[in-house]
Amino acid sequence: MIASMLRWLDDRTGCASCLRAALYEPIPGGARGRYVTGSMLVFAFATQAVTGLFLWMNYSPGSQNAYESVYWIQNELTGGWLLRGVHHFMAQAMVALLPIHFAQVVIAGAYRAPREFNFWTGLVLMLITLGLSLTGYLLPWDQKGFWATRVATNLMGLAPGGDAARKLVVGGSEYGHATLTRFFAVHAGLLPSALVAVLALHLALFRRHGVTAPPPRGRADEYFWPRQVFFDAVACLALLVVVLLLVIRFDVGGLVAGKLDGPHLGADLGPPANPVEDYRAARPEWYFLFLFQFLKKFEANEFLGAIVLPALAVAYLFLMPWIGRSRVGHAVNLGTLAVGLAGALFLTGQAFFDDYRAEWTAYRPERFQADADGRARYNDRFRASRDYLAAVDDGRREYARLRELVAYHGIPTTGVRTLIDDDPELRGPRLFRAKCASCHSHVDAEGRGIAGPEPAEGKEGAVGNEPAGAPNLYRFASRAWLEGLLEPERIVGPHYFGDSAQGREDTDGAYPSGGMVEFVRDTVAAFDDEQQGKLKDVIVGLSAEAGLAYQADADREARQSGAIERGRASFSEIGCADCHEWGDDGIDDGPRLTGYGTVEWLVRMISNPEHESLYDGRNDRMPAFAPESGDGKANLLTLREIELIAGWLRRDAAPLPTE
Ligand code: HEC
Ligand code: HEC
Repeated sequence: MIASMLRWLDDRTGCASCLRAALYEPIPGGARGRYVTGSMLVFAFATQAVTGLFLWMNYSPGSQNAYESVYWIQNELTGGWLLRGVHHFMAQAMVALLPIHFAQVVIAGAYRAPREFNFWTGLVLMLITLGLSLTGYLLPWDQKGFWATRVATNLMGLAPGGDAARKLVVGGSEYGHATLTRFFAVHAGLLPSALVAVLALHLALFRRHGVTAPPPRGRADEYFWPRQVFFDAVACLALLVVVLLLVIRFDVGGLVAGKLDGPHLGADLGPPANPVEDYRAARPEWYFLFLFQFLKKFEANEFLGAIVLPALAVAYLFLMPWIGRSRVGHAVNLGTLAVGLAGALFLTGQAFFDDYRAEWTAYRPERFQADADGRARYNDRFRASRDYLAAVDDGRREYARLRELVAYHGIPTTGVRTLIDDDPELRGPRLFRAKCASCHSHVDAEGRGIAGPEPAEGKEGAVGNEPAGAPNLYRFASRAWLEGLLEPERIVGPHYFGDSAQGREDTDGAYPSGGMVEFVRDTVAAFDDEQQGKLKDVIVGLSAEAGLAYQADADREARQSGAIERGRASFSEIGCADCHEWGDDGIDDGPRLTGYGTVEWLVRMISNPEHESLYDGRNDRMPAFAPESGDGKANLLTLREIELIAGWLRRDAAPLPTE
């Protein structure tokens, strides 16, 4: 019964003979473990097609909602992280297998007659796969992908006529919705169909000529079935296992205990693309890093490095079959292959080292004592690495915060941008970088954070030159911040007034401030122990004015122990009230300290430092960001933006409950 049905099916379709032909393909020299790479690539591609299709069902290609849909796949869709993870890592596996497969072909001399066309179609497949990787990277529309694509497509502009090509690919001169729809069509439509067509040709040609067995055929010929099929199956299974392990980040323990946290697994997702602000960690995917690194060596002539040499390299690949005709030519090919692969590996390693230099090595500028140029170069590289790491770190933090916000508010119909733009944690540092970091820094004791105009290293504390910076606002108005301000050495140090007019000694040895710097450097420096104790109480009391959330426990304790009351009394006793007003005490000569460090105080300061209660007449260079009341046109920042900065400086944004 079943046999007759199968016969019927075979009669109408010929599938049994087809299967027979597939399985009983002879392999000269017998089945071999190393013939598996081709099958693995086909398997990987099939996986990509299937997972890609399912991703498509949930993806929405538009700059307004692409990120949101990927976010949803990653965090909400059941098994979405797995789907995304497999698609992501299988793509990497494909890219990693390609050079292996390619090297095997070249080593076996399998590009020689009559297999040239097979070789060329293979090369085309390789290029298509790279194209798929490149286009796929943009689709989540997150920071990484967006900026990587920008790096890649900007290179296109270097080629002759490349500008037009770039515009065509990008869909205009701006990266936006049109870029995404184009990339998506290319990624999910054009390239996969091209790949299927070329793959069919590649396989047909392969069947026509068979495998290239190594010359001394020591072993008997075999059919594809069963041993080679077995080898292939084991290899593909192993590949799948490796990919799955990558997806769960090798957390086998968690898998067994059923404690895997999906949203943190699978492919990384960064914060959404922010086209407005330069991203300091713009890098291509790791397998293009060698090109990126290669290009750095051609800064003077990018055209040569980005277009001419790669084009020559690809042309060489296509010429390999001809070059390899003779024994010498084959040796040349092998040599070039070895040098090329080693070079790519080396450059990749170098690229990673450049990025992680600040993490992997200690900062040691003194090695360049005698060599000023070398030192400057070393400093530049070190700074670039620190910038890169900080940007990566920021990305992680932003994404974590975004998850909190979404868990609390849900995804607004206007997109996650709305949440980001109205959150002090996310928007604050961006605004600070754009508007304040040209003068102020915001760095912790280890120097992490947003650097000010000039890095601390290499800064000469020269007297009399133009002031370039302004106080470090990290934990502004906290006890630690005030302690530093009121220390004779530190008040003129780089974290306080050392880099603004207030802390610059003029030629007469006087400070052009309203007496604060002199007061600290002369009077406070001469305080006895009792006065030092009073100063401590003043600091505790003044800092409590700010009502900082992260200091709340300490403030409560101080209130109970009476330290704050003592601080108020001491404020007049040690002389602060001669210049400052705090509550009912003192006069408004220096900045008014009532409500010091509160949102209201900060908003007043940022809106207009010239305010009569602040740096009236003594303001150094700090611009008034909102001199008009309300959100008038002349204002550099809206009131809400200023509040967001103030909230971030005060670290007000408490973690939101995630459930
Ligand atoms: C052009 C340089 C410059 C820019 C830009 C600038 N500031 Fe300032 N800022 C200063 C200087 C200098 C001081 C010291 C007091 C003074 O001279 O007004 C200061 C003081 C302050 C203070 C008072 C605390 C202190 O340490 O004295 C705060 C708070 C502050 N700035 C916040 C900001 C914020 C927020 C931004 C961005 C929106 C910003 N500043 C932009 C130069 C600048
Ligand atoms: C001789 C007058 C004078 C005395 C005394 C004085 N200050 Fe000041 N203070 C100033 C002036 C003026 C400024 C503004 C900065 C400048 O121009 O140097 C200032 C700035 C400050 C600031 C920074 C405000 C900001 O921008 O963030 C704090 C905090 C402060 N003083 C606290 C104190 C405390 C606490 C005492 C007492 C231990 C004190 N001051 C004593 C005049 C004085």
